[in-house]
Amino acid sequence: MKVVLQTTWNTTAAWRAELLRQAPDLDVRIWPEIGDPAEIDVVLCWQPPPDLFTGMRNLRLIQVLGAGVDGLLRSHPQLPPVPVARLVDPVMSRRMAEYCLYATLRFHRQFDIYERQLAQARWERHQHADAGEIAVGVMGLGAIGSATVQLLRQLGYNVAAWARSPHPEAGVPVFVGEEGLPAFLARTRILICLLPLTAQTASILDRRLFEQLPHGSYLVNAARGEHLVVPHLLAALESGRLEGAMLDVFAHEPLPRSSPLWRHPKIFVTPHTAGITNPRTATGVIVEQLRRLERGEPLLHLVDPSRGY
Ligand code: GLV
Repeated sequence: MKVVLQTTWNTTAAWRAELLRQAPDLDVRIWPEIGDPAEIDVVLCWQPPPDLFTGMRNLRLIQVLGAGVDGLLRSHPQLPPVPVARLVDPVMSRRMAEYCLYATLRFHRQFDIYERQLAQARWERHQHADAGEIAVGVMGLGAIGSATVQLLRQLGYNVAAWARSPHPEAGVPVFVGEEGLPAFLARTRILICLLPLTAQTASILDRRLFEQLPHGSYLVNAARGEHLVVPHLLAALESGRLEGAMLDVFAHEPLPRSSPLWRHPKIFVTPHTAGITNPRTATGVIVEQLRRLERGEPLLHLVDPSRGY
């Protein structure tokens, strides 16, 4: 099977080595040195350039190397008519869940406040609630949202989720769709966004949404920068509607040094690091997908381009 590997990361060599270690029969070609495009069966890509698929007449699968496919769908409105799959790696989901756990602990146990005190060498102790009294609300119940819900639940947090459709298997209250959003927000103290980026979810973290949260809530965004309306976040922090935010994703990455987000005392910025893909474990998932393709079996985690994820 002839596979093109394209990433914008500095880990292309590691990916190639893993692919060949786990599936020595593969013919892995690194973009742009791909030889005859008509020979290519599969593209493994992350943020591909517009011409990547040109001439790939016999392409059978586009496998994205990350969880989100918004970048691919946006930059390629005319994708070749082949299945598109996103990457669902339990190790990556776990990494994302750990990030959200840290954010939850940070705000629940007031490490944000202690960090500010540290800078002033100030010894002052604060009462805090128990985990069961902290209402965490997870937006999105895909693989990553579900892993996050389960991890937080194990630690005793009062978790609920918001999703497009009912999830009776979630084991926590799930608020559904537009109608469920106000009640979900009203009960949430720490809001975690893990939604896919679609036309429906872009700019969902806006003034209208923040106003429905209890005063003094917290925001965690580990999904996409485009979910968040930054001036509305700054206003919500100013008014006290929000007490803090932890942000991993930004509409423009790297986040420019001039961004006020870096320096805001109530915002904790991380450089899109919540769920960095692990080439070793992700390759295991991809090799399984390629075997399925070879055997003509149903493929995993296919994207519905009309839905956007
Ligand atoms: C990273 O943001 C991903 O979608 O995997």
